[in-house]
Amino acid sequence: MNKKEILLFLTLVLPVFVNVQEYGLVRSDEFESSGQFANPFKQPHYLPLNLAIGGDNGGDPDVDAFPMKYEIDYVRVYQKKRGIRSGEIWPDDKGVHINAHGGGILYRDGKYYWFGEHKSETTSSAWVGVTCYSSTDLMNWKNEGVALSVSDDPNSDIVRGSVIERPKVIYNEKTGKFVMWFHLELKGKGYSAARAGLAVSDTPTGPYTYIRSGRVNPGIYPADMTKEDREITFDQKLFDKWWTPEWYDAVNKGLFVKRDLEGGQMSRDMALFVDDDKKAYHIFSSEENLTLNIAELTDDYQDHTGKYIRVFPTGHNEAPAIFKKAGTYWMITSGCTGWAPNEARMFSAPSIWGPWTKHPNPCRGENAELTFGGQSTYILTLPGETDNKYIFMADIWRPKRPIDARYIWLPIQFGDDGIPYIEWVNEWKP
Ligand code: DGJ
Repeated sequence: MNKKEILLFLTLVLPVFVNVQEYGLVRSDEFESSGQFANPFKQPHYLPLNLAIGGDNGGDPDVDAFPMKYEIDYVRVYQKKRGIRSGEIWPDDKGVHINAHGGGILYRDGKYYWFGEHKSETTSSAWVGVTCYSSTDLMNWKNEGVALSVSDDPNSDIVRGSVIERPKVIYNEKTGKFVMWFHLELKGKGYSAARAGLAVSDTPTGPYTYIRSGRVNPGIYPADMTKEDREITFDQKLFDKWWTPEWYDAVNKGLFVKRDLEGGQMSRDMALFVDDDKKAYHIFSSEENLTLNIAELTDDYQDHTGKYIRVFPTGHNEAPAIFKKAGTYWMITSGCTGWAPNEARMFSAPSIWGPWTKHPNPCRGENAELTFGGQSTYILTLPGETDNKYIFMADIWRPKRPIDARYIWLPIQFGDDGIPYIEWVNEWKP
């Protein structure tokens, strides 16, 4: 082979092209057949591999050495460790987009466990159940599988096709059990059941055993309802025409509390909060999503004690997420616009029992009026005795293709006045 031939050989035979997936060495056929997620970037990518040939001390290569074989056994592709990039595809340890929506995080023995709704290609209903992922750094997540499975028994409350939303897990030190509460809607009944569901496990990743579901605090008036309001008898006509001044007044005074008193209060979007004294609270949208309830849980976290308050009747709050800093309770919620984003709301209180005060939208910057396209789901307090850090977690829903919903995780910052605010950050590390 002469020099000209060597050059031709290098140009035509090399570079060798290697097809790689966006997420490393996951083969596209494996990726697809996992059935979990069709990669939107699925198209060939090419890596040119070049070989330089030279002679001794910069001289020409010895032409007698050619032809020579250049064999490649394998190509290892390294990916730069990524920080948290809100709104993008978040691959798990298998390269599949994390499927844990409306989620929450449990921290236990040095590990974070992320629980969330499994969503499929075409529906938000529960076809799989509640999924769990684990991580030690909040950036690399291992798929731990299904923590709570839907049932195939048509008589089960959590039968495949029911609605299981916003699961949250807390650990009970007295019983050593992991306790999961979630919002449950019965199959084929739309959002009318409005129940709280309960499941427990001896290990963080499960499997969780489904215990029961139901409305909350049947037969019990909220602690903050006055004696006069408890005694009012409402005119049935108030249910016929909503949004009138009389109707608002009646809702404030407990129109729906009374309607649902016997069977228990409605429970939809929800959060759990464990306080410093280990008492736990269930915070949920009630009264047709018009009012938030904050309800105390029993010592084993598996029931309600009957003590609860109503927060912002007629305020239309969903998606509650809560944290506590220096003795002040902070709650971020959304308005009620289905899967579409709206402006976040923020409240604070000196005690979980209030009084709760409303603050302006905590989000700042571009798209702040739509919570950057997301809806709150959880606020994670990073472990640490002092100087805690807090992460605001939200969902960017994709109702046309629910499995493709994305996550927003942003650090909560604090102004000189101590008021929390949230700004968009393209990429960051906790
Ligand atoms: C908004 C809620 O926050 C979600 O969890 C879900 O229930 C949708 N509404 C359903 O439209």
